[in-house]
Amino acid sequence: MNIEAGKAINTDVEETMNEEPSRTPSSTPPPAPRREDIDREDRSTVGDYTVADPRMTARQVNVYYGDKHAIHDVSMDIGRNEVVSMIGPSGCGKSTFLRCLNRMNDTIDGCRVSGEITLDGQDIYAKGLDVVPLRAQVGMVFQKPNPFPKSIYDNIAYGPRIHGLVTTKAEEDEVVEASLQRAGLWDEVKDRLAQPGTGLSGGQQQRLCIARTISVNPEVILMDEPCSALDPIATAKIEELIDELREQFSIGIVTHSMQQAARVSQRTAYFHLGDLIEIGPTDDIFTNPRHPLTEDYITGRFG
Ligand SMILES: Nc1ncnc2c1ncn2[C@@H]1O[C@H](COP(=O)(O)OP(=O)(O)O)[C@@H](O)[C@H]1O
Ligand SMILES: [Mg+2]
Repeated sequence: MNIEAGKAINTDVEETMNEEPSRTPSSTPPPAPRREDIDREDRSTVGDYTVADPRMTARQVNVYYGDKHAIHDVSMDIGRNEVVSMIGPSGCGKSTFLRCLNRMNDTIDGCRVSGEITLDGQDIYAKGLDVVPLRAQVGMVFQKPNPFPKSIYDNIAYGPRIHGLVTTKAEEDEVVEASLQRAGLWDEVKDRLAQPGTGLSGGQQQRLCIARTISVNPEVILMDEPCSALDPIATAKIEELIDELREQFSIGIVTHSMQQAARVSQRTAYFHLGDLIEIGPTDDIFTNPRHPLTEDYITGRFG
């Protein structure tokens, strides 16, 4: 099972072809452990990391930077129409894990990923898989808005053009307008589409980046602390947008703000030193954490 990024994960196709998919939920889940029964040194994941209708699945994912073991055996699903937030102290591996989900770690020298990650049942680390369309299907928005040094219009039109999604100018116009509408930016920029994207405010630039991600028809949108560089009003707009986007996309968001995780996500995953410590419905994680390490973090004992 353990392979390097870019190599085939499952070569035993014949063997597994006739098996039940392993993610089929069992009829009776094991009873949840009580908090007092969990050893605080135990780093195995508490909570059900599966969902009934997953869009992405990660199983026993490990990530190394050279000799450094940054992610240990992390398994979790991202379901349809849900926002999953990933929280935890700085350096616990949230960004590293997120980058596994669209193979962004491939671009980092010395970074090695093992385990299995699927999108709609397809192994995204399969041999020969083209990462360019994968990164359109699983788009990413970063902490610092990073518009291209191009016009607002071209920031959006560029992706659909290179992915061959548009052929005529009319189609291009349509995708540009629809993507900006979807990102809640159209009314603010429709009269200045030829101006540089970098001239927008920080919050507008971030919505431009979200529009750019949407323009190539993703299934999943990953966001790595998308509001960290924004003021509270711009942050509120992005949070509202995330909730609307959930109707169409699956969203994985890393945030250092527990309030934000509580506001935008349906499920929350708590990471600690490279381990996924606990995952579950957001309300449960914040009101009734089961692992003592989760409790320490959400009650502000560290982080
Ligand atoms: N490009 C890299 N090269 C080497 N080590 C890295 C790299 N990126 C992250 N790390 C290390 O991996 C661990 C997890 O980092 P990261 O995923 O950035 O955490 P988080 O996003 O939770 O703050 C940290 O110890 C960090 O120093
Ligand atoms: Mg990070």
